[in-house]
Amino acid sequence: MTARPGMHTLTEGRGLLFGGDYNPEQWPEEVWAEDARLMRAAGVNLVTVGVFSWARLEPEPGVYDFGWLDRVLDLMADNEIAVDLATPTASPPPWLGHRWPETLPVDEAGHRLWYGSRNQFCPSSSVYRQRALEIVTALADRYAGHPAPALWHVGNEYGQVCHCDESAAAFRTWLRDRYGDLGTLNDAWGTTFWSQHYGDWAEILPPRRAPYIINPGQRLDWWRFCSDALLDHFRAERDVLRERTPGTPVTTNFMGLFKPIDGWAWAAEEDVVSNDWYPEPGSPLAPALTALTHDVMRGLAGGRPWLLMEQATNGVNWRPHNLPKPPGQFRLESLQALARGADGLCYFQWRASRFGAERFHAAMVPHAGAETRLHAEVRAHGQELRGLGSVAGAPVPAKVAMVFDWASWWALEERGRPSDRLNATEQLLDYYVPLWERGVSVDVVPPSADLSAYALVVVPNLFLVGDRDAAALTAYVRGGGVLVVGPFSGVVDPRAHVRTGRFPAPLREVLGASGEEWLPAPLDRPVRCRWSGGDGFDAHTWTELLAAEGAEVVAEFTEGDLAGRPAVTRHRSGEGVAWYVGTMPAPAALSELTGRALADAGVEGALPGLPPGVEAVRRGDVLFLLNHGTATVRVPLPHEADDLLTGSLATDHVTLTPRAVAALRPHPGRPHPGRPHPGAS
Ligand code: GLA
Repeated sequence: MTARPGMHTLTEGRGLLFGGDYNPEQWPEEVWAEDARLMRAAGVNLVTVGVFSWARLEPEPGVYDFGWLDRVLDLMADNEIAVDLATPTASPPPWLGHRWPETLPVDEAGHRLWYGSRNQFCPSSSVYRQRALEIVTALADRYAGHPAPALWHVGNEYGQVCHCDESAAAFRTWLRDRYGDLGTLNDAWGTTFWSQHYGDWAEILPPRRAPYIINPGQRLDWWRFCSDALLDHFRAERDVLRERTPGTPVTTNFMGLFKPIDGWAWAAEEDVVSNDWYPEPGSPLAPALTALTHDVMRGLAGGRPWLLMEQATNGVNWRPHNLPKPPGQFRLESLQALARGADGLCYFQWRASRFGAERFHAAMVPHAGAETRLHAEVRAHGQELRGLGSVAGAPVPAKVAMVFDWASWWALEERGRPSDRLNATEQLLDYYVPLWERGVSVDVVPPSADLSAYALVVVPNLFLVGDRDAAALTAYVRGGGVLVVGPFSGVVDPRAHVRTGRFPAPLREVLGASGEEWLPAPLDRPVRCRWSGGDGFDAHTWTELLAAEGAEVVAEFTEGDLAGRPAVTRHRSGEGVAWYVGTMPAPAALSELTGRALADAGVEGALPGLPPGVEAVRRGDVLFLLNHGTATVRVPLPHEADDLLTGSLATDHVTLTPRAVAALRPHPGRPHPGRPHPGAS
């Protein structure tokens, strides 16, 4: 098998990628020359072109107009700016919906969604598929061999869902493939409940709006189907491109931890993993959530570099109230992505649109023009990235893994459970924060991953788990790993049937503890707990009636009916240790617990004594320190280092003002003052 092109294909000879979405079709051609000049001055070397150009490229069915795009691509090639050329299929032209209304998506209540915005297509529509593949084929044929396109950008932010009759037929086909016969489907969906037995495939529907709670097995398969249906479409476009331009990598832009798309399945089908990410400027959780999201992308990329396809230089326009970014903020965010494995830092978009739904969205060139504070920052950032090229390709080594699974996420968050306060991504972030605060790097992995290289594996929630994955977690511990499992895990099998017996049934043995009741807690007061032989702490929202079965009780509940019962357990099993957490500890307590598990695993953070708000992460031989806090801080260093950003030598510390970043590479041959030089007598 020949190796597929990937991020390395893009960075070789270019270094780190910097640029943004470029929509020249919104501007007269005179502006394009200025764009190219400004791009060069800013060090832009990659632009995404054509994402929303279908109506310009094919003004009526089968009639193409590529002239303008020829000129754009020539201009980019002349300026040595690579193009991430998009297939324009995220936003079909009005003629498609007008002539073929069946291509338009239908919501769960049966309402058709119309054109006039974007994303209006049914993933299972055969007409949409045919028309999309025709324009993709025409595009690929025209530009195969053109020097500008370096990457294919398929569609945009996939996530469409459609409940129409054609989708229903496709769902049935998908179910036939999965279950073979109706009897197996009826078993899987548990249709003896509420008289839901299906006697004919034709009776099966998408989970359209219904009077009351819909069958969770049906809903889980619907999530699976919707992700697969879109993936099937992505693959169809990708295959056209691969056939015509085998040397050009293919991507599609994700949206972080986005529920409708099974990231593990999708990432396996792309050459480059790319993400669109818009941290909320006012949110205190944004830096950690952003770090987690970047780690998810690195995980999806199998540890290889990934591309930050879209971020914003300033406020977006799609939140109800859009806080701006203070000076230095977008640079800080860009460098955070670089530190966590991104080899490209791109933006939405190059030049702010004068019209359309995103008139008030930030850009690299704002409405006020290039002679602005913001564009000056863009230019400076682009230039400084030229000096960081040696970071490209470097890995972000991690000894800790966090397990995350889309099917479990889908299954967990259905209606009709003990509490809807238990949310898969919130649990993930809760367990991530204390690792992030310590500068402990984390790989996010699927439950099927090979865990043997990790000293600590954290499973914040794995509501749905298959037998094989549960056995692998057990084997990991027996072989010497340290495992932490969060509440309401191991509850259902892949059909969303409850695993009977004491819970978490498939992990009970390795945890040396088990439970018999899930007990959501009153929301108006904390759940009081105590470390065994130590201090009290607060938890919230969720408790479980647990018993230790060989495990040591690390913390217990101290109030109410659960007083004296285990809240957290720790079990030596084989060569390893398995923790179970039967509640939702408050941040300080979860940090304490994380510290103990890290000690079990012998894992330390990137730098001891990190001031609050400072993120530390190693990429290759470079230690990145990023100050997300509002205070100027002094960070002690274990050795002298060159700051790649300032060009200065840091001896025993760096001082970081708010939003400042240091990128420290150990200084060769310069011993730390006060520490003997190796070889000195
Ligand atoms: C997404 C889309 C872009 C644009 C931006 C605005 O990331 O891909 O087309 O709408 O959001 O933030």
